[in-house]
Amino acid sequence: MIDQYKGFVFDLDGVLTETSKAHFEAWKELAAKIGFELPDHVIDEVRGISRLESLDIVLGYNKNPQDYSYDEKVALATQKNNIYLDKIKAYSPNDLAEGAIELFELLKDNHIGIALASASNNAPFLLKAMRIDHYFDAIIDPKTIKNGKPAPEIFLKACEMLGLEPRECVGIEDAEAGIESIKTAGLYPIGIGKLSNCEEVYPDLKALLDHLL
Ligand code: G6P
Ligand code: MG
Repeated sequence: MIDQYKGFVFDLDGVLTETSKAHFEAWKELAAKIGFELPDHVIDEVRGISRLESLDIVLGYNKNPQDYSYDEKVALATQKNNIYLDKIKAYSPNDLAEGAIELFELLKDNHIGIALASASNNAPFLLKAMRIDHYFDAIIDPKTIKNGKPAPEIFLKACEMLGLEPRECVGIEDAEAGIESIKTAGLYPIGIGKLSNCEEVYPDLKALLDHLL
């Protein structure tokens, strides 16, 4: 299928590295500090969702998020990010998903553009830490995105930055919100992990690579 497409647009957390767990552990620790327990299934609810929107989902398991002022929410989101940063501070190429380098090399050999469509403000740090930043032809800055996933904006912007039409590109995601974003934008969706809203799903990146080889 690789010769049918000119661009591959990747999500980061949960696709190129297992940071989805670190994000969720940080939310759980924040909830514990506030004084409530966050149920484990919430990991799938906050997958791909921006920091402040995730905070509202998390707080909603305790009381109405509207009970907090905007400034209080920013302070809590900063606290969560500090917990998260501590968890990823020692990230290295060892934390990269198996098969990622081979997949990037395969795409480069086939002159296929590579872009990152991550909602995370920590993405540039992680790309550098895992030493894969040089593979990307385009990296979307989430601060420039008005409507996060499931809205199509971030994937549309990635295609635009690659100079390609969405139908010429593949989007790879571990989040249902991300798959919805890819589908609405008009890219071909590929899922990683367990997804109910995507037809082509692989358990991990290595399985996708094996399929493409
Ligand atoms: C990704 C993750 C989410 C996270 C979001 C923002 O989409 O899947 O769990 O909330 O990025 O990340 P940040 O590092 O900016 O808080
Ligand atoms: Mg993800």
